Amino acid sequence: MSTVYLNGEYLPLDQAKISVLDRGFLFGDGVYEMIPAYGGQLLRMGEHMQRLQNSLDGIRLENPLEAKQWQDIIHRLLLDNSESGNAEDKSIYLQVTRGVAAKRDHGFPQQINQSVFIMVNDLAPVNKEYLRPGVAAITLDDIRWKACNIKSISLLGNILLRQQAHDNGAAEAILINEGLVTEGAASNVFAVIEGVLVTAPAGPRLLPGITRDLIIELAHANGIACEERDFTEQELLSASEIWFSSSTKEILPVVELNGKPVANGQSGPIWEKMIDIYQTNKDALRNSSAQ
Ligand code: PDD
Repeated sequence: MSTVYLNGEYLPLDQAKISVLDRGFLFGDGVYEMIPAYGGQLLRMGEHMQRLQNSLDGIRLENPLEAKQWQDIIHRLLLDNSESGNAEDKSIYLQVTRGVAAKRDHGFPQQINQSVFIMVNDLAPVNKEYLRPGVAAITLDDIRWKACNIKSISLLGNILLRQQAHDNGAAEAILINEGLVTEGAASNVFAVIEGVLVTAPAGPRLLPGITRDLIIELAHANGIACEERDFTEQELLSASEIWFSSSTKEILPVVELNGKPVANGQSGPIWEKMIDIYQTNKDALRNSSAQ
């Protein structure tokens, strides 16, 4: 049984309970983060904490914990949930809601006691061989709201879009907003267009993925031409490579789009190069001793 953190307590998962009046439960009124940890080392913790703060600011909710408190709780949970002294890869899920109100009412309650929940899950080992076969994707109209930069726990749009992809034999959806590619249902999207790696610019139409930012940084540092710019569905359909990026899937090639092969239907040469760079970066983190 895993140990989770709920509002100041460390508990076995099946003893962690919240009130039905929690606004996260009633309204989806909260935000979350998902942070990967390799051998006990958190990937880009500072960036995840900054995005959490941006999400909290976006929903006008005060951060209930200091950065050091988040760190300490997460490190304790990692240790409590490890069978091998933190050798495994894990993902940390954390969420903050606007807490319990005396009655259901859309407006904010006067007195706010945020609910904080954190759990640790196993992260399936991801490597090049596992990723190389790639996945199928379909394009879908982006039906979500206009503040997708907030990592909101209200995920109905994302859930419906992901399920629609599954119903059509695809692993993930690529979302199109007024003709422009935004992101996946739970991932960011990259495309290689005329030899240049392209991803949509950060803004309210998409979540600024931490993996996305890392890929852009690594591309620049390794001489891979990379641009953050708007690109159309038409450009996507003619791309020589398409990738999804996320904390859990890392960099996943898309080999089939809307039932047709992407280029020759296999992962491409720029992906081959980038995944090596990404894995090297990850292994360096796993082997580092700095906490
Ligand atoms: N989702 N865009 C959306 C809509 C996402 O849900 C995610 C990640 C990303 C990629 O962000 P990052 O690189 O920081 O993981 C982009 C997580 C993994 C989830 O909801 O499970």
